[in-house]
Amino acid sequence: MGALGFIDGQIVDLSEKVISMEDRGYQFGDGVYEYAKVYNGKCFSLKPHIDRLYRSLRELRIPAVFTYDEMVSIHERLIAESGIQNGGIYLQITRGTAPRVHNFPDAVVPCLTMTIRPSSINAAQWETGVGVISAPDERWLRCDIKSLNLLGNVLNKQKAKEAGCYETIQIRDNMVTEGTSSNFFIVKDGVIWTYPTCNLILKGVTRTWVVDEIAPKAGLSVLEKAFTLDFALRADEAFLSGTTTEIMPIVTIDGKPVADGKVGPITRQIQKAYKDLIAGECGPV
Ligand code: PDD
Repeated sequence: MGALGFIDGQIVDLSEKVISMEDRGYQFGDGVYEYAKVYNGKCFSLKPHIDRLYRSLRELRIPAVFTYDEMVSIHERLIAESGIQNGGIYLQITRGTAPRVHNFPDAVVPCLTMTIRPSSINAAQWETGVGVISAPDERWLRCDIKSLNLLGNVLNKQKAKEAGCYETIQIRDNMVTEGTSSNFFIVKDGVIWTYPTCNLILKGVTRTWVVDEIAPKAGLSVLEKAFTLDFALRADEAFLSGTTTEIMPIVTIDGKPVADGKVGPITRQIQKAYKDLIAGECGPV
């Protein structure tokens, strides 16, 4: 078994079913999503992902028609039926299908779809570190909602790919907000800096592990404070966090080395602590 899908309460082959052409996710991007990783056949840190899903739904006033336990159980079914031990589960909930008018339809029947696939990341990058570029953050003003509207993210990620880089760090009002699918951190004089949680970034589940759990346990101070690209270019270390990205060291920004261009010790320490957290919940990775 390999990649599988979930729609209308059933597990299906990915090629089997189609969404209505009047689904509001398709026509308006009117929906939300989540993405959780599977290690050794278990979902890592699923609760905060589902909690964030409910928050996104509330913010967009889409009814939550699945309970927490139902969501967990669908994740487990997808893992069991696909036989995938290491991969990722993507889910999205749209406001459902209705004739195309901008305002909400009178009767809302949200549509949940999910997919599970094996992991595809190049593991060597966690060792060597990656390059990132910077670009203007042109997204809307509710980046705290994990909505399906990802055009700003998509266009900036493509710029990174075309530059031979892993990610684009985005700049709004002269400050570095976050990556297109990851949060951004720097280390300066032993202090970890990252953009504060607000409407302009996604509060990453991985970011929360770093800020609330890993750093305090390691005695590292974190400053949730905006900083400029110039400041980031003078950092001692830099890294990204995210569910697929995990803790990814950054060795160049816009082609310039971060410090000596090698992966820094605090980044390594956080990377190791994050792996330990995964191992604690899902077994050795
Ligand atoms: N992206 N910032 C943005 C804009 C993101 O899209 C993501 C995650 C993150 C990191 O969040 P977390 O640690 O909860 O994964 C930050 C997912 C993985 C995606 O788009 O597929």
